[in-house]
This record gives sequence, structure tokens and C-alpha cells, in this order.
Amino acid sequence: MRIVSNPLRGTGLSPDVEMARGVLRTVADPVRAMLSACPVHAETPLLDRTDLAEALGVASIRIKDERQRMGLGSFKALGGAYAVACAVKEAAEAALGRSVAASELTSDAVKSAVSDLHVLCASAGNHGLSVAAGARVFGVKASVYLSDSVPEGFAERLRGIGATVVRAGEIYEESMAAAEQAGRSEGLLISDSTWPGYVDPALTVLEGYTVLAAETVEAMEAPTHIFLQAGVGGMASAVAATLREAWGSDPKIIVVEPDAAACLLEGVQAGGPVTAPGPVSNMGRLDCKDPSHVALEYLAREADAFVTLSDDEASSAVARLAEISLESSPSGAAGLAALITCRDADRTALGLSGDSRILAVMSEGAV
Ligand SMILES: Cc1ncc(COP(=O)(O)O)c(C=O)c1O
Repeated sequence: MRIVSNPLRGTGLSPDVEMARGVLRTVADPVRAMLSACPVHAETPLLDRTDLAEALGVASIRIKDERQRMGLGSFKALGGAYAVACAVKEAAEAALGRSVAASELTSDAVKSAVSDLHVLCASAGNHGLSVAAGARVFGVKASVYLSDSVPEGFAERLRGIGATVVRAGEIYEESMAAAEQAGRSEGLLISDSTWPGYVDPALTVLEGYTVLAAETVEAMEAPTHIFLQAGVGGMASAVAATLREAWGSDPKIIVVEPDAAACLLEGVQAGGPVTAPGPVSNMGRLDCKDPSHVALEYLAREADAFVTLSDDEASSAVARLAEISLESSPSGAAGLAALITCRDADRTALGLSGDSRILAVMSEGAV
């Protein structure tokens, strides 16, 4: 485990750095209004695990439990599906020449107006499921690009909900390049990351994630420490933005990445986006070697610390959590894994004590 206190906290990256920029929108209500058209949309639980808090020597541990989100198994359900809904709305309004209400999006008139729409994305698994589920609800075509490192189980689930699966490359970044290429001629790319020349509709995807944070704010008082696992940093940035707005600058925000893919930590150290190469990690959904630029810019200013975990540390935390009926994957449990892995010196570095009140997100169930 490695802990780096954020040298850019409060100031952020220099405005002179050439990178994609965009404003994170943190108003969750329009997202909730749109998602309420979806029958499986429901608030997820916020667990209060006093047993784990006692075992780890902190005052409390609250866990936003995203394992059942919209029946898709992760928080990612919120982002891609919402971005597809927004794309459908826009296409329908252009085709019909009038405004279209959220309640109309699944009507036959809208479906026939947008039947040519084709959405595509690259995915480490969960984002693709969200885009594909949205496409199915609104009757549009979806293609999902998966690298060889994504388990076949995800491919089967994607095909099961009607998406075309395209295997492309060995690692996530190669599948992303293939999806980006296809997006130029074959359809609308709905990525969960941002880079120069591509910011929207990824910002819409991030806006979807703010729902999990808004639900959390409504259900608890401000904690002292917030552990957020990150791949490209989309979830951590969208959740952190919403929580900072509600709870101010006191809670310590700790971003957790695999040591094989610490692109946010390294970006903050380098003062701008960099590729962080490394071997394939067992934290598959966090195994992103390039950050989302918008997420990096935001986290560079707002995160207090960046932590990296080894595959072994993630696996042993997953096993320990399973013993107390908190089944998850190394990706889904990485935030809690960082807390579990802390030794005395790490606790000091993160300002953890017996009075600490922890918030973590269990971002997916066991895979
Ligand atoms: C379960 C899970 N947790 C965390 C993440 C990290 O999210 P982000 O890539 O937005 O940082 C992902 C990304 O796919 C994920 O699927």
C-alpha cells in the first residue's frame, strides 16, 4: 500500500496544462426524474457496519451499497443509461421538431423516431451493461467494445440484453481506441472517460453517478473520511463533487487505485494527465492506465490523498469482507480494502483514529 498526500489540494492543476476540461454538473434531480421512467430504478442501501468499525478501530463505517443498482450489479448503471436517455431525447426532439418529455421516451412515437440511433462504447464490463440496458429500454442499437481482459461473463450478459459485443485488443485502452474509431463513422460514442476532443456525452455519464452521492447526503451526516476507488476517476470525481458541495472541505477524500494502474496519483504528481503503464490488475474495473481528464482536474484540486493497493491486498480484503457477508470483487471493495490494509503509520498518514467516521462505496458485487 502506498499513500501520497495530494500536493495540489486546493489549487489543482495549472491552467496552462493542455488537457480536456469540462464542468462537472452535480444536480442529481434531473437524472432521477429521467431514471424514474425506468421500472427498476430505486435508491440503494446505505449500510451501517458497526461490527467492521469495531474491528478496524474507527467510530463508524457507512457503506453505500451499489451491488444491486438497477439490477445491473454496479453504480455504473446510473451513468451510461442516463446518457443514452439524454441522447434519445435529443435525437427524438430533432426528428419530431418538438420537445419530448422524459415520460414519452419509451413511447412508440419516440422509438420509431430514433430507430436509426446507434450507441457504442468501450467497457471494462459495467459501463457497457449500463449503455446496453439503456439502449434496450429505448429501443436503439448498442455495440460494446471489450478487451480480452474482460471476463466472458460480461460479454454473455451484454449479448443477453441485446448488445453487439466486439472484442478489441488486449487491454482496456485498446478497446477504447477501437470504440473511438468506430464512433467516428458508425454511431454515437458514449464513453465514461474524457480526453482532448471528447468531453460530451461523458459529462452526462458523470452526472448520472451524482445520484449515488445525492442519496448518500440525504441519508447521513458528513463523515470524516471518504474512500473512493477509481479507474479513470469518473465515479470518484462525480461523487466527490457532490459531497464537497454538501459537506464542504473538511471530510478527507481518499482516492484508491490499483498499483498496476495509478493514473490519477501519477497525474497529480506529474501536474497533468499521464499514462501509468503496469501489468493487468485483479481490480479489473479499476485497471485503467489513462485518467479521464475532467476527473483528474477535479480530483487534483479536491482529493486529499491517493492510495494504491496491490492485487494481494485487494484479494485479502475481499476475503475478509466476505466473512462478514459483504461479498464484492477486488474492484467493488477497493475503497474498503484501503481502510482494511492500513497499518499504524498509514492511519497516521491519513489522519485516522478511533473517532473517524468512514464512508465507502461498494461499487459492485462479486463477479
Ligand atoms: C465496479 C466499479 N467500481 C469502480 C469503477 C471505477 O470507476 P471510474 O472508471 O469512473 O473511476 C468502475 C469502473 O468501471 C467499476 O465498474
